[in-house]
Amino acid sequence: MKRYLVQTFGCQMNVHDSRRIEEVLGDHGYLPTEEAAQADVIVFNTCSVREKAEQKLRSAIGTYRGLKADNPDLVIVVAGCVAQQEGDKLLRQIPHLDVVIGPDNIQELPALVEHLRDGAPPMARTVFDMDAPRFLTAKPRTQAHEVTSFVTVMKGCDERCTYCIVPYTRGPERYRPAVDIVNEISRLVAGGVREITLLGQTVNSWHSQGSGEGESEFPALLARIAHEVPELVRLRYTSPHPRHLTPALTAAHAELSVLPKHLHLPVQSGSDRMLKRMLRRYTAADYLARVQGLQERVPGLTLSTDVIVGFPGETDQDFEATLQLVRDAGFISLFGFKYSPRPHTPALKLEDDVPESVKDERLQRLFQVVEAQQRAHLASLVGQRVEVLIETRDEARPERFSGRSERNELVHVDVPAGADPRGTLVQAEVIEAFKHSLHAVAMGAVPRRELPAQPARQPVRLPLASA
Ligand code: 5AD
Ligand code: SF4
Repeated sequence: MKRYLVQTFGCQMNVHDSRRIEEVLGDHGYLPTEEAAQADVIVFNTCSVREKAEQKLRSAIGTYRGLKADNPDLVIVVAGCVAQQEGDKLLRQIPHLDVVIGPDNIQELPALVEHLRDGAPPMARTVFDMDAPRFLTAKPRTQAHEVTSFVTVMKGCDERCTYCIVPYTRGPERYRPAVDIVNEISRLVAGGVREITLLGQTVNSWHSQGSGEGESEFPALLARIAHEVPELVRLRYTSPHPRHLTPALTAAHAELSVLPKHLHLPVQSGSDRMLKRMLRRYTAADYLARVQGLQERVPGLTLSTDVIVGFPGETDQDFEATLQLVRDAGFISLFGFKYSPRPHTPALKLEDDVPESVKDERLQRLFQVVEAQQRAHLASLVGQRVEVLIETRDEARPERFSGRSERNELVHVDVPAGADPRGTLVQAEVIEAFKHSLHAVAMGAVPRRELPAQPARQPVRLPLASA
């Protein structure tokens, strides 16, 4: 019996791609293993957005040199963005590496492994599927009782943010037909999934076809999904570009109850000078106007974001403008990154002139500001009711479950003994705010939507307590 091990580095897109790699290998008779020593194929699914991630990959592969020496039949594969970025150069740099495979070539992996076993030398396949884009469909994991799942709606990126390697590693934008997206979501929901996160590098630039010019058709896609899959409880998407937060998308948020009251909208900087150099194509005021317009239509909607500190030429004043924007937008969480020069990016022409110690200091200040906002936000919810889509059970405490609220707060919910509300929406009263999450007590199952029965799961029997 052949076995595989997939190690994932980086973003949600990669987590999703790793699943597809596992499924493609599974379809060819491979079984999973957690033990590298038992694996016939080890895949490193890599990220190259920041240099640190790339370094991590190189040291991880290094640790398998001995294993390969002991077992020459072991096949070591590098997939993902580093594979696409480096191509066959990686094969020359890492002698014990066998296959390099780009994000668009995942389906070819089993055949490449077979060629290798038949005596072929190490190989690299990093070809974009421009003419006939492939979007590998996620298989419902009914056994795993997954409550939430990703569905890809587009891939690649036509933006040219000057710091970003993604347009190089993931290629031009390609959009998946709406019918395929809706069918995949329907299949996942029929298999027990309740929350879908639509995935794409600039997910809200989605078009039904063609080059993607003109206004995005993403709001229509959201409406179609809501209409055609009414059993879906929540529909999230990541990562949107602020440019495509159009009035139509704002209206969709106001009209479609399946969209939660949360948006992750990367801003990158609050300084117009930096935003221009980054080629983000909006100003801080544009960004604020768009999110405030959204919050007017959807009261209580929370925001999170991505920020880069120490981009070339960033002064203290530029950084202060970022802090100000973080306050003005009231982000309740944030991913902060130190600028990292990447190959094939326009920003390489600019000197990486902000000292590492200054980048560190700015990142710490940024986190302090957002953590204070997060704490104040969580504390403000004590005594309030939240609607939680329950995802997991706490292994140590059988009456405690966890999930996300409609605003994306992580909520730990105490339920009556014997209940198992995974996969359902539960109303709960917040009794305590932790540093990054909430503690709540279930008030009863929420009858907002009729949820299809989940197989092999105890029915929810929560008392309908008075609030
Ligand atoms: N340096 C630092 N952060 C980067 N990101 C993308 N490229 C870089 C880079 N060169 C960050 C952005 C993006 C997130 C996925 O990674 O904030 O939104
Ligand atoms: Fe990179 Fe900008 Fe495209 Fe996002 S929108 S993937 S940051 S180039």
